[in-house]
Amino acid sequence: MLSLLVLISGGGSNLRALLDAATDAEYPARVIAVGSDTDAPGLAHAEEYGVPSFTVVPTAFESREAWGAELLAQIERWSPDLVVCAGFMRILPPVVVATLTPRIINTHPALLPAFPGAHAVRDALAAGVDTTGVTVHVIDEGVDTGPVIVQQSVAVEPGDTEHELHERIKTVERALLVQAVLDIANGHVDLEETAAR
Ligand code: GAR
Repeated sequence: MLSLLVLISGGGSNLRALLDAATDAEYPARVIAVGSDTDAPGLAHAEEYGVPSFTVVPTAFESREAWGAELLAQIERWSPDLVVCAGFMRILPPVVVATLTPRIINTHPALLPAFPGAHAVRDALAAGVDTTGVTVHVIDEGVDTGPVIVQQSVAVEPGDTEHELHERIKTVERALLVQAVLDIANGHVDLEETAAR
């Protein structure tokens, strides 16, 4: 059984998809803890499923490095097999990435390397592309630059608002993330190999 620690900042619908998937006895992964950088609404999903959570707020620390050290300490308390960033909206300090990679993955609402960063859906709309999508990737020291595990495209419809397009992307994203974690858990995806590409 692959143990997961999920990091979130927002509504946590991707977290909820993993919590739901893990209610199936056949699904080979379990969320053992949830972490956040803020009082995220999505922490309610952890509570509902009886999963412990913690919050490490950057403004409570003198530096990004000090925040990162505490975040890493909180993660390591749980010794997760895999850390999943699911809408975690902070760039992780180098010590966190160096310690955890390649056993730390991220889901991003665009077809990387297109539209990295915090406003991927808005940026895709502004660029006028007719196709965007989702990427699940290993986190490396860059911002949304890590080796891709899987991607799926989503069509941009005429007149799409950022919210409408993001919601359509998230429907695809939740299923893709659940499948990617399944593939990692059952050995169909080897993170060491993915990271060496
Ligand atoms: C997801 O679409 C995720 O890819 C995105 O935030 C959303 C979180 O939704 N992450 C990023 O944009 C990271 N750059 P959720 O809180 O409902 O899971």
